[in-house]
Amino acid sequence: MGAETKQDTPTMAETADKHLLYQASVQNPDFELDFIDTTFKQIRGRKPASMREDFAGTAISSCQWVKRRKGNTAVAVDFDPSVLDWSQKHNIAKLTEDQKQRIDLIEDDVLKVTTDKVDVVQAYNFSYWFFQERATMLAYFKRTREALKDDGLLFLDVFGGSECYQTQKEKRKVDGFKYIWEQAEFNAITNELTCHIHFHFPDKSKMKKAFTYTWRVWGARELREILAEAGYSKSVVYRQKFDAKTDEALDEYVATDQAEDYACWLGYIIAHP
Ligand SMILES: C[S@@+](CC[C@H](N)C(=O)[O-])C[C@H]1O[C@@H](n2cnc3c(N)ncnc32)[C@H](O)[C@@H]1O
Repeated sequence: MGAETKQDTPTMAETADKHLLYQASVQNPDFELDFIDTTFKQIRGRKPASMREDFAGTAISSCQWVKRRKGNTAVAVDFDPSVLDWSQKHNIAKLTEDQKQRIDLIEDDVLKVTTDKVDVVQAYNFSYWFFQERATMLAYFKRTREALKDDGLLFLDVFGGSECYQTQKEKRKVDGFKYIWEQAEFNAITNELTCHIHFHFPDKSKMKKAFTYTWRVWGARELREILAEAGYSKSVVYRQKFDAKTDEALDEYVATDQAEDYACWLGYIIAHP
């Protein structure tokens, strides 16, 4: 009597916050910002200070950016007010007053937003692959070029290999839960890939389709052609390195025009205005 029945106890999936799970399993802002800092310095001979984070979601990268150096400023753009609200409550709230002064969340479409010119525009986790039409991608790249200082740089991520073009599931253990990446549908005519992120918990409960995306799988070469058409003077692909003996993917990226027929490779494209 009075004891909670099994039915009354919420499952781990019911009480989990999908944005926290996403940040813990998908994002690695420190690694990404280290890459931006190091490569920007190599190319421009100085450290970047101002950054715009497109498709920002919870704006975790912008928060980490303003924490890095006192002179750093960030603008995070996303058109979904609910995710920006979440960011205010969970990520921005943890910043100091000084850091809060140096970050702006903007609710807008990255195709339309106008912002002050910055050193870096970053669009990560393939969100720009939401754009299905070449004309839309061209318009987006033109907008990012306008948002950059003359010696600024655009940072995009990219992936390739035969696994992009097929349905598959990948599971990975993260602290306290399992992350499942499902490529659920692929249209070989349009290159549209529909993917879901699911989370599974130790109590056997599941958060299915926590996030769903339909991307067009773009090739690095065609993206670079569109960047050139948008007025970028140069673009370079930095491809993930693989261990020569084990073929294991490493957290190291090298500028190259070569990729063997890896089943899956990750990379960045850096474009110079
Ligand atoms: C997968 S999340 C990316 C989160 C984070 N930037 C990352 O690297 O993981 C994609 C975000 O892009 C936003 N988004 C999609 N299309 C957009 C657009 N045209 N303009 C602004 N935000 C957009 C969505 O609202 C969503 O929050």
